Amino acid sequence: MRAFHSALPGYAPTPLTELPPLAAELAVGRVLVKDESSRLGLPAFKALGAFWAVHRVLAERERDREPGSVTLVTASDGNHGRAVARAARLAGQGAHVFVPRGVSAPAVAAIAAEGARVTEVTGPYDEAVRLAAEAADGPGSILVQDTAWPGYEEIPGWIVEGYATLCAEIDEQLAGTAGPDLVCVPVGVGSLAQAVVTHYRSRSAGRAPALLSVEPETAACVAASLAAGTPVSVTTGETVMAGLNCGTPSSLAWPYLYGGLDAAVAVPDAASVRAAADLADLGVSSGPCGAASLAGLRAVLTGAGAEERRAALGLDAASVVVLLSTEGAPAR
Ligand SMILES: Cc1ncc(COP(=O)(O)O)c(C=O)c1O
Repeated sequence: MRAFHSALPGYAPTPLTELPPLAAELAVGRVLVKDESSRLGLPAFKALGAFWAVHRVLAERERDREPGSVTLVTASDGNHGRAVARAARLAGQGAHVFVPRGVSAPAVAAIAAEGARVTEVTGPYDEAVRLAAEAADGPGSILVQDTAWPGYEEIPGWIVEGYATLCAEIDEQLAGTAGPDLVCVPVGVGSLAQAVVTHYRSRSAGRAPALLSVEPETAACVAASLAAGTPVSVTTGETVMAGLNCGTPSSLAWPYLYGGLDAAVAVPDAASVRAAADLADLGVSSGPCGAASLAGLRAVLTGAGAEERRAALGLDAASVVVLLSTEGAPAR
């Protein structure tokens, strides 16, 4: 995976930035932010998965590789759709992206600017996924979705594979240290968290960090599923964390999330907005989904019951926390 990404034009590891004021605020040893505000020319981590999956899809469809012979279809609340559209354009193929309600006009425009056809759906993300799957059910169209369901798991699996590069970079950036004690992951359908669980739970050497998922209060399908012990869908509302506004965990991710996450937290919009502003003050560009990691960490480490939660996660004043900031601040 690393070799594939490294060979792409514009590839560079994204920064892992240490922010001592946050460590002081939260009484831990170190807080480091994996800053995905500029990844392969796009302002979110999503290109890691989309580029690899599109590469695999087109390699499998060798005979269809005439320019313009394939339309890559997906549903997205912004970042994934833009990344699929970019990958399609670079491969000389078409893209059709279904966006749910609540996606900002600039995010829609950014997808269209990649040359993709955009269909705006009046319903939530889960409905956009359904419509994209229907639209892709014909010759010449291929669904490249970053969530899985029974019977549709191969391509989402490739997307998760692509995300592995992010974790591999963190390993390199923390080489020579004992590694993180806690990793905080923003979660929509849980595909990124699946990659994080896969990475940190399969390492033969080194200690395994605690893993915390962070969702919007209005779309906490993974927290609800963990509580129920089985995947459940929730009715989503409105949130500034558009990329996390998903009502159903990925079927592929679920067993990993259930077996591998240590804790799940849901945060309100105001906490994420504040976290984004604080990160900006510290020089890190972070959008509402990216900053959710910091909002979640704060929710866990402060307030009533914080000492119990800290102990349950095995954290102390020397602990090293990695926050995944999965997108940059929106352009103004
Ligand atoms: C910026 C950002 N962060 C996090 C996520 C969550 O990823 P997943 O849906 O794999 O949980 C997304 C998904 O769209 C996203 O766009």
